[in-house]
Parts: sequence; structure tokens; C-alpha cells
Amino acid sequence: MADPVQSILKKFTQKDKSNLIPILQSVQEKEGYISPVAVNGISKHLRVSKSNIYGIASFYTQFKFNPPGRHSIKICLGTACHVQGGDFLLNALQSEIDIIPGETTEDAKFDLERVACLGCCALAPVIMIDKTIYSRMSVIKLKEMLDTYE
Ligand code: FES
Repeated sequence: MADPVQSILKKFTQKDKSNLIPILQSVQEKEGYISPVAVNGISKHLRVSKSNIYGIASFYTQFKFNPPGRHSIKICLGTACHVQGGDFLLNALQSEIDIIPGETTEDAKFDLERVACLGCCALAPVIMIDKTIYSRMSVIKLKEMLDTYE
């Protein structure tokens, strides 16, 4: 089977550094995250150092460097959610699943991401797991909600 990263790189025949972001987006779309193997391949293809790639990619919150979990948690820290205790929820969530945003739990059950707005500010504070929105969240509801996921 062809290496998916190499097949993406073949589409970007011009070894132009301006292709870095589109390449990263394609890799993430295909693989779900940017692996060290992918960074290595991109580095050779574009002749850009790996540290440079990590530096640029980590500037954009859309890029993940860990394989996604079975369930993806997005916690909103936009203004409405922040005002309604989003940071407090994030702290509770981090303690509960023992990871910080950008990471995946050891058992690969959850990955965690912070986002700027989930588009339902009237229901703040909001957490989304996979495609389900949990509105007016509280620390008490949090554990109950997490327990429903396998
Ligand atoms: S600020 Fe959280 S949903 Fe908009």
C-alpha cells in the first residue's frame, strides 16, 4: 500500500515553501494528525527544517500532533463561554481525563481541543463531543457526560 504522506507530497510537485500549509492540511485531513513521519517527509520534500515546520504548524490551532482519540472533545473558550465559566470547566476536564488541549488520552479514548466559538453562544458554556453539543455545562454534569463514552 502506498505511503499516504508520500502520495500527498507527489501532488505538490513544486517544492515551494508556500505549499507547506496546504500540505499540512492535506496530511491532517487524510491521517487525522501530523505525525513525526509526516513532518520528516515534508521536511525532505520542501527542504525546510523539521523545527521550522513544527514552529509554523503549531501557530495554527487547526493542526494536531497526536493521533485523534475515539472521541474528540472540543471545549469552547469564546467570550460567552469564558464568561460563563469555560476556563473552570477546562480545568475540571483536564483533571478528569488527565490531558491538556492538543493531547490524546493514553487509552486513546479522548482527544481534547479548545476552540473559539461553537456557534451556540446562548447555550454557554458549551462542550462538543464528536458531533454532540452539551450546553450550559457544569463541573457536575461533566463527569456524568464523560462516563457515557466508551
Ligand atoms: S463563545 Fe462558546 S459557543 Fe460561542
